[in-house]
Amino acid sequence: MRKVSIIGSGYVGATAVYYIAEKNLADIVMVDVVEGLPQAKALDYLHAAPMRKYSVHISGTNDYKKIADSDVVVITAGIPRKPGMDRMDLMKINVDIAKKASQAIAEYAPNAIVIVVSNPLDIISMVTLQESGFALKRVVGMAGVLDATRYRYFIAEKLGVWPGDVMAMVLGGHGDSMVPLTRFTRVNGIPVQELLDAETIESLENRTRTGGGEIVSLLKQGSAFYAPGASVAKMVEAIVKDEKRVVPVSAYLRGEYGYNDIFLGVPVLLGKNGVEKIIELELTPEEKAALDDSALHVEKGVEELRSFYSPG
Ligand code: LAC
Repeated sequence: MRKVSIIGSGYVGATAVYYIAEKNLADIVMVDVVEGLPQAKALDYLHAAPMRKYSVHISGTNDYKKIADSDVVVITAGIPRKPGMDRMDLMKINVDIAKKASQAIAEYAPNAIVIVVSNPLDIISMVTLQESGFALKRVVGMAGVLDATRYRYFIAEKLGVWPGDVMAMVLGGHGDSMVPLTRFTRVNGIPVQELLDAETIESLENRTRTGGGEIVSLLKQGSAFYAPGASVAKMVEAIVKDEKRVVPVSAYLRGEYGYNDIFLGVPVLLGKNGVEKIIELELTPEEKAALDDSALHVEKGVEELRSFYSPG
């Protein structure tokens, strides 16, 4: 049986466990610094095992050593946004948390693929890469899958069609400057532009960009977790089953799309080795300009990171 460790047993971490267990994808270790929390949630899940037919084991621990031999480690630990906050506002606290988690992963699960979920996503992914010392393809940020599923849902809702029939690509940083690529968005093969007018598409793109923020302001405390948890599970599945799925993720770029040394949302092939290939799309000048703007936001974040953090 494959093994997945989830660091952080808050809403996103625990929801990811739910979706992973429901599909019997892997044994799961839940890790958190709060004593009793991961143990309680793991036990609660196990109580459901006879009914939900789980063949995977779920355990909770405060001890990083238990992540040993994980195939995948997911970092969800950190504080979420409050209404009015930007994901970048979380940087200092979450960098510190990610630093410790990444060092532990390097020590105890040196062969794992790491999925980063904590925000600001593209920045925390950078910290994880540097602290773990892992190969570039083994650190991957979860953002595009989530941003795309939101866009897919909004289109499906507007058209009154089954959400599973909508495929979409959202690139760029995981922030309000993300770039939904309408040209690559289809409803079972039909370009979305054939089905919706430009103004409607633009309003759905805008709702996608602020999709996470919409949930934050409704919740008033905390941020989204069902769709983020499901997005993590989809990526875990692609890795543990070596599915070679084509999905947008935050990947470390070295020249792809003209950007260097940043994590940015791009389409990749995701399999057992992590990011097995970065797919470079031919972008129109407008699309490239939007992606440049998004990359600039991430680069500014990296500059801010450098003002208080250096690896090691
Ligand atoms: C969101 C958080 C997880 O987009 O970044 O909801």
